[in-house]
Amino acid sequence: MNLKYRKTIIAGNWKMNKTLTETKAFAEAIKPNLGRHKWCEVVLCVPGVNIAGAVKAFKDTRVSIGGETCHYEASGAYTGEVTAEMLKDVGAKYVIIGHSERRQYYNETDFTVNKKVKAALEAGLKPIVCVGESLEQRELGVTEELISYQVKTALSGLNENQVRRVVIAYEPIWAIGTGKTATAGQAGEVCTHIRSIIRKQFGARVARAVTIQYGGSMNAKNARELLAQPDIDGGLIGGASLKPDDFVAIINAANQ
Ligand code: 13P
Repeated sequence: MNLKYRKTIIAGNWKMNKTLTETKAFAEAIKPNLGRHKWCEVVLCVPGVNIAGAVKAFKDTRVSIGGETCHYEASGAYTGEVTAEMLKDVGAKYVIIGHSERRQYYNETDFTVNKKVKAALEAGLKPIVCVGESLEQRELGVTEELISYQVKTALSGLNENQVRRVVIAYEPIWAIGTGKTATAGQAGEVCTHIRSIIRKQFGARVARAVTIQYGGSMNAKNARELLAQPDIDGGLIGGASLKPDDFVAIINAANQ
């Protein structure tokens, strides 16, 4: 973390979990324990259908609500999809773009990720762009090249002010939902690499302002060590964000 230059953001990715009733219960459970998050911003990205309800449930707290994906077009014949503007209109502030599950199951590519990032920014949302390598890619030794390609493509065509509003989440695919966290050293190294790519493309001032998160089996126990890395400015948390006590513990770890 580097509190001088950029925001620390602890974000939950609820994926396809929790009904609105469960969302309200979660809000009530964490509200009494949220008072102390002074430095970090807290975000919960929830299923699209529950965004408006979540915004209401977390009213009067410092928790922002986000979506988990959006379409890149502004409107049209895309049955089942939602636009960035629709998310913004019901109160979302963030949207996750290019999560590896979307890339794997819904054919999202680096090219569509770039279009979605532009659509999100256009609508006034902050995109949380996910990048990360598979186990095979790590073992082949191509992690750096792959991450460079993913980050450069995702940010292609953006200006400096737009890049400042983007959050990058480094999520090694092999660490997602597996209980197998990257070591703080491994995660920190890739996050430093991501910042160096942004520096080369957009300059030092922009690079030091961008929040870079780690995601992949982050939990109450390992959060502190991961967040101690100079280029890890928060987390994108799946499983542990579904449990009020664990999520609060991670927020507290960011406020140490
Ligand atoms: P887990 O924390 O469950 O590994 O999920 C990480 C993730 O995919 C967040 O986007």
